[in-house]
Amino acid sequence: MKWNMIIGLPLAALAMTACDRGTGDVDISFSREVKPILEAHCADCHAPGGEGAATSGLVLTDYEALMKGTRLGPVVEPGNAISSTLYLVVAGKADRSIRMPHGESQLSEQKITTIAQWIDQGAKDN
Ligand code: HEC
Repeated sequence: MKWNMIIGLPLAALAMTACDRGTGDVDISFSREVKPILEAHCADCHAPGGEGAATSGLVLTDYEALMKGTRLGPVVEPGNAISSTLYLVVAGKADRSIRMPHGESQLSEQKITTIAQWIDQGAKDN
């Protein structure tokens, strides 16, 4: 095998991954991409017993709890990020008083997009 084949193959694989991400064709994974965001930025308040969970009823530590939503109902409408409270509060499109994470700086553009794409792709437990 020539040296350039050995180096070329992994590079080609990397380039393909990068392209797929750009188009949004590749499914966002809940467990690998969305859950870590919720754990890092939301779970402090939205775990059972936390301030956010106590006030709204919304627990964000696993898929079932997230899909159950708040006491008032679901915060995710699969396939429709723009109608999903989960997206609206992190994107800063909800009322000022309910932007999330509460009292902390907004998520990065990339993390907000990840959440939006995951919802638009059907909010699957993947
Ligand atoms: C510092 C604590 C805190 C953090 C961190 C936090 N929340 Fe909250 N969250 C709250 C509280 C308190 C409420 C109750 C709403 C209110 O009255 O302000 C709430 C309510 C909500 C609601 C329901 C809004 C509604 O009115 O229907 C959603 C959705 C939500 N949070 C999502 C998130 C997400 C997603 C994150 C992480 C990006 C997050 N929260 C991080 C405290 C927090």
